[in-house]
Amino acid sequence: MHDLDALVKDALAVFEQAVDANALEQVKARYLGKSGLLTEQLKALGKLPAMERPVMGARINAAKVALETALEARREHIRERRLDAALREDALDVSLPGRGIGMGGLHPVSRTLERVEQIFHSLGFEVADGPEIETDFYNFTALNQPENHPARSMHDTFYLEGGHHLLRTHTSPIQVRYMQTHQPPLRIIAPGRVYRVDSDATHSPMFHQVEGLWIDERISFADLKGTVTEFFRLFFERGDLQVRFRPSFFPFTEPSAEIDMSFGDGWLEVGGCGMVHPQVLKNVNIDSQRCQGFAFGMGLDRLTMLRYGVNDLRLFFENDLRFLRQFR
Ligand code: PHE
Repeated sequence: MHDLDALVKDALAVFEQAVDANALEQVKARYLGKSGLLTEQLKALGKLPAMERPVMGARINAAKVALETALEARREHIRERRLDAALREDALDVSLPGRGIGMGGLHPVSRTLERVEQIFHSLGFEVADGPEIETDFYNFTALNQPENHPARSMHDTFYLEGGHHLLRTHTSPIQVRYMQTHQPPLRIIAPGRVYRVDSDATHSPMFHQVEGLWIDERISFADLKGTVTEFFRLFFERGDLQVRFRPSFFPFTEPSAEIDMSFGDGWLEVGGCGMVHPQVLKNVNIDSQRCQGFAFGMGLDRLTMLRYGVNDLRLFFENDLRFLRQFR
């Protein structure tokens, strides 16, 4: 029967054009569904004369097998294409060189801070902390610098709007807060960021300080000299380092001194210090008849410059990796 051959040929061509599983199932129904073209032929079989039925039946069955075989082949083809596409999409080019994981490192000033903390720990000091935005009271008044005190002008201060708050100009307010909440004996260092209106090769509007405080019943200027000298010798790893105490003035210490250390043929100023002024102790309710002690302060950035031979302070805050990498 010519009809049947044409039907198979058409079906095979249509199956080939189905691009996905859905489309294929739809065209399958057109031939093999309940009222599909081939199914109709089977139904018509009963109307044929009995003689012709076996031959015709066999031919229809052969056609059905041909369609089913073609369908299965097409299904398989579509599956494989889908898999190929998925694999291509997830492809990982293992021949690309790796990007590597960059090793980070501590900032040189952080290294100095760690070293300073370690040394003072070994001398029995605890580390205290406090806010960078301070009140006038903690930064100045409690430290024996009342309003209009001329020494205030030594600190070019960043005031916040309203004028009652400011960026701390030194870490001494940490010590005031600590003395308000602790009774002697006390032995702390107070490291942190401080701010002053100042900017050149050796001054930055933000820099780092570490201050120290030791209060007890029998603490003398000799303890101050011994502690500070020992610190500088340990920090610079030089047992013969000379430290000199040059008379000076701070409102919160009496007597007061600048700390100089030997450097080449001369001296270099590296900090300030003194015996805590009795008025400061009174301001925080410590009995100044029974207790006394010393305080000192120095610049962490300065210490870092000296230790590593850096000549411009601003390098520390520009975040140029070519500079920072040298300290890893
Ligand atoms: N607070 C002083 C400053 O920043 C430093 C200092 C601390 C001086 C303790 C003496 C005693 O200038």
